[in-house]
Amino acid sequence: MSSGARDIKSDLELALRLADVADKISLNRFEALDLVIETKPDTTPVTDADKAVESAIRDEIAKHRADDLVVGEEFGSPASLAGKYYWVIDPIDGTKNYLRGVPTWATLIGLIDPSGKVIVGVVSAPALSRRWWAGDKLGANTSFNGAVKGISVSKVAKLADASVSYSDLIGWGERKAKFLALQEKIWRTRGHGDFWSHMLVAQGAVDIAVEPALSLWDMAALDVIVREAGGQFTNILGQEGPHGASAVSSNGLLHSAFMKEIN
Ligand code: IPD
Ligand code: CA
Ligand code: CA
Repeated sequence: MSSGARDIKSDLELALRLADVADKISLNRFEALDLVIETKPDTTPVTDADKAVESAIRDEIAKHRADDLVVGEEFGSPASLAGKYYWVIDPIDGTKNYLRGVPTWATLIGLIDPSGKVIVGVVSAPALSRRWWAGDKLGANTSFNGAVKGISVSKVAKLADASVSYSDLIGWGERKAKFLALQEKIWRTRGHGDFWSHMLVAQGAVDIAVEPALSLWDMAALDVIVREAGGQFTNILGQEGPHGASAVSSNGLLHSAFMKEIN
């Protein structure tokens, strides 16, 4: 089945309602003195809010899209996704921010069609009063304090004029030296981090965002929002889409020049 068989507008409306459900739970637990923090087998932290948000979203999807599958960071993936539409959920992206009271965190909701293309994405960052969303061929939008506007990427065309955002210097391997050297050649670098780097690309405030080691749930929602804003989303080797275990998003104009510098 192709995406043409699907009413993407209605899927996007559902994704926005899922984000409303998520925001209520996550905001209510943000800065809570009794927040429960555990360490996962991969040694990263998880809070009661991460789990409650993902459970609530899974319940809603089961109610409204019973045939769809769900891949979520906290509660896993089905053995096979073949031939199915599937929702990809990162209940809280930026858990380390969340548990320390830093407001840069978001719930990420993506919907992927059987070909692997992301057709709906919502990024909801309620502690920043911001949200971004897109549907395939429906354009990309953002809201700040409830005011909605369409977004598009920047027109910066030279690396020397570019603003680049990343998360940290972990996971770069041999590319780390190249990335550090590049910082001398471009206009500006800031570690905005997580979803925020890529959403700043989508809204034209930053020109390139990069992170060398990520999972599908970190990227699915971001991919379609960046593309619908006129940008490009690949992995660090240049493969299109969110399936390549790393992320480079850009305004498109700078993508190949940036890839040459870090590869
Ligand atoms: C993390 C963020 C971060 C990346 C980490 C992820 P989480 O997600 O996406 O940018 O550097 O690798 O684990 O755990 O806060 O959802
Ligand atoms: Ca994440
Ligand atoms: Ca997470």
